[in-house]
Amino acid sequence: MGLTRVNGMLFGGDYTPEQWDLATWDEDVALMREAGVTMVTLPVFGWARLNPAPGEYTFDWLDDILDRLAAAEIAVDLATATASPPAWLVRAHPEILPVTAAGVRLEFGSRQHYCPTSATFRAATVELAGAVAARYADHPALALWHISNEYGDHITECFCDSCATAFRAWLLRRYGTLEALNHAWGTAFWSQRYDDIAHIEPPRLAPGPVNPTQSLDWRRFCSDALLECFELEKAAIRVHSDLPVTTNFMSMMRELDYWKWADAEDVVSDDAYPDPADVDAPWQAALNYDLMRSLADGPWLLLEHAISAVSWREVNVPKRPDQSFCHSLQTVARGADGVMFFQWRASRAGAEKFHSALLPHGGTGSRGWAATLRLGRALKDLAPVVGTRNAEHVAILMDWDNWWALEGNDHPSTRMQWLDTVRSWYEPLWRRHLTVRFVRPGADLTGLPLLLVPNAYLTTTDTATWLADYAAAGGTVVVGAFSGVVDESDHVHPGAHPGPLRELLGVQVDEFWPIPDGERRAVYFADGRRAQALTWHEWVEPEGAQVRATVADGDLAGRPALTRNAVAEGAAWYVPARFADLGEVLAEVLVEVGIQSLPPGWQVPDGVEFTLRLGADGARFAHLVNHTRGAVTVQAAGTDLLTGTRHDGKLTMAPESVAVLVLDEP
Ligand code: GLA
Ligand code: ZN
Repeated sequence: MGLTRVNGMLFGGDYTPEQWDLATWDEDVALMREAGVTMVTLPVFGWARLNPAPGEYTFDWLDDILDRLAAAEIAVDLATATASPPAWLVRAHPEILPVTAAGVRLEFGSRQHYCPTSATFRAATVELAGAVAARYADHPALALWHISNEYGDHITECFCDSCATAFRAWLLRRYGTLEALNHAWGTAFWSQRYDDIAHIEPPRLAPGPVNPTQSLDWRRFCSDALLECFELEKAAIRVHSDLPVTTNFMSMMRELDYWKWADAEDVVSDDAYPDPADVDAPWQAALNYDLMRSLADGPWLLLEHAISAVSWREVNVPKRPDQSFCHSLQTVARGADGVMFFQWRASRAGAEKFHSALLPHGGTGSRGWAATLRLGRALKDLAPVVGTRNAEHVAILMDWDNWWALEGNDHPSTRMQWLDTVRSWYEPLWRRHLTVRFVRPGADLTGLPLLLVPNAYLTTTDTATWLADYAAAGGTVVVGAFSGVVDESDHVHPGAHPGPLRELLGVQVDEFWPIPDGERRAVYFADGRRAQALTWHEWVEPEGAQVRATVADGDLAGRPALTRNAVAEGAAWYVPARFADLGEVLAEVLVEVGIQSLPPGWQVPDGVEFTLRLGADGARFAHLVNHTRGAVTVQAAGTDLLTGTRHDGKLTMAPESVAVLVLDEP
């Protein structure tokens, strides 16, 4: 079963026919057929063209192109076209424009210029989404609804008066009374007490650090406010259509709590733009794709990426054709059931005219077009993979509340950031060919023997209980530094750190001890191995936990740098230092837990990505992506879906190449 009614892998891109004349439309549809395009997304930024004046709709051009696409059997991911309000609406209602923390109202002239709580904006989007849905609900091209575009792109928050009013209402829903709010925000400090809800404002630019709980609640509110926009449009669609809805996520993005968002949509889709100039891009992208698959609880859709260069970095390096092929098929390796692009045909005008496209400026004679054709063929061959689920080996806790709280003001060190932290834990897993499932607090961890918690600065007592139960039942949990510190209101837990995790981890943390930039501390393991800590360590007193590594120099010489606490059937490790290479710690844990991801007898060299997708019928597809620029030999066996070649025990992979091996019946 695919994500939509379309059979096989989805392949295509954003399509902006409004930019082109009718002769070009004919050519577009013909070339889409030639490339094997199965779905296109439109009209994402079509508001001004569809709805040129209040109450006036011009659907004729969209009717025409949808009919042409349907006739060519190309499906449509139909956008509600609400991401950029047209000039007439903005000029009639300038309060739609968003306001910065410094009180500056942003102008029309770019895109996604809207205040998420504006009643006028919301009503206008509901009207347009409803009109589009009413007209096209039964159109034969329709396969998926695309609501707005990249919520949180450009505008993640707005500080206008409408948002202030909505924030107050949100706070009253959360706290019930001002007394409860004053307590949660700790307003007894710095004379911040409120006796009237009307006195509360968003965390606008202020002389010094803003109240941290106010900021945390603001983040929660902003994610919810955008989600309400999504829900309103979805409801407008549901009046007319039951087809699946999506909105395109923006990879591991701080501003939106994607767990809540994923709950609200039918298909999880992502826009991902790994930088071809960055050697770390493959594993960093893998992390993102594992997150998307986790949000989807199964296959997801890559709705946008770039076949070559983007146009929004300072330096936009193109992709080598083989690199581009690897980037695209890496997403399938990690659970994508479709690979789509921004955009179909390269623009001649506008902000993104230097962004690569499936059909480049140079047309069908270009290298880019050859890359498009090659990918289209490969995706066709990969149809059997659709609907299969990835084997997953290790869980990582992902909690947006914690991300927001961790990066609050006035902490012991600003160097403790979520993305860096989770990446440093993820990379060694990727190098060991272990696939990660990201989980939210309280998730069902059946089948996952290892749970990593790179950071849980904000730990609720419920989360602590969930972790303790998991370990007691035989799970191994590994908790990173600066965890168990505060509760959901960002109040320090009573008693010594790590608060509700103290008993589970069998340690007490007496002091946080960030390491100055550029300095490192030597660490030695119990077996004599040496490692290095940087950025952060802590004064730890064991309370039952066994010390597995110790700080060797500096002010904390002799203090634990890694501990292990035996817990009923399982174990709880604590990593109070930031290791230069966390692989050294995880190696120790992995040996103990004994997770095996590669089939027996296989050997996959470093730099080659490995995943396994499993069919409900027992089919097994091993994906190998050689991200390196050299040829490699892999010990593996199976028949390559992309070439039809059978490999018995040994496979030589060309530089930057992909193999998808169908394994024999076990
Ligand atoms: C995002 C947007 C697209 C386009 C691309 C360019 O994904 O959704 O409209 O701007 O970026 O990379
Ligand atoms: Zn606003």
